[in-house]
Amino acid sequence: MRLFVALPMPEDVADRLAALMAGLDGARWVDPDDLHLTLRFCGEVGGGIAEDLAAALAALRAPAFDLRLAGFGHFGSGRRLRALWAAVEPSPALALLQGRVEQAARSAGLEAESRRFVPHVTLARFAGGAVAEAELTHWMTLNSPFAAGPFAVREAVLFESFPGRDGPHYEPRLAVPLQRLPDADDWPEEQWDEA
Ligand code: 2AM
Repeated sequence: MRLFVALPMPEDVADRLAALMAGLDGARWVDPDDLHLTLRFCGEVGGGIAEDLAAALAALRAPAFDLRLAGFGHFGSGRRLRALWAAVEPSPALALLQGRVEQAARSAGLEAESRRFVPHVTLARFAGGAVAEAELTHWMTLNSPFAAGPFAVREAVLFESFPGRDGPHYEPRLAVPLQRLPDADDWPEEQWDEA
């Protein structure tokens, strides 16, 4: 099966992004319900590795955090433009989570990811040469400045990806809850009566 670990976008952020996803001929826009930030692409894995990965992820501990999207970027250039994405503001907590997901993947027997982690939310993919870089730059200028959030990240999700004629279809397989600090308002009152 084909697996990846990601942060799905909350509905209001997906709505904000969906409102921008037009006006670029030749772009294959991502279905707004499928917008996500990939933490680890695992590729095709056998049942044994999938089970070990799910177990390692279920045991993963990392703090919940807030995240903000700001600006756009793209992969590839010229005739090799591959994708347009929303950029993510630098976040130490996101980097920590990604590192722990990577550890979980390795402990399940997956090869180490050699590519540098570039956190992004893919908005559109392009077949070779389908969109000119000048048009993409124009689209990015037209839609700038862009920011969304901060929004709460409370879980990471293991997804299974199924190929389809209209692009891949994703099914959540496991939610990995992130740890929240107790909210001061939720603390029992005696915490404050000791002095
Ligand atoms: P992307 O958004 O930058 O395309 C599911 O396919 C997710 O895994 C996508 O978000 C995709 O990133 C990511 N991914 C990373 N490497 C991939 C690869 N070699 N093939 C397919 N998806 C990959």
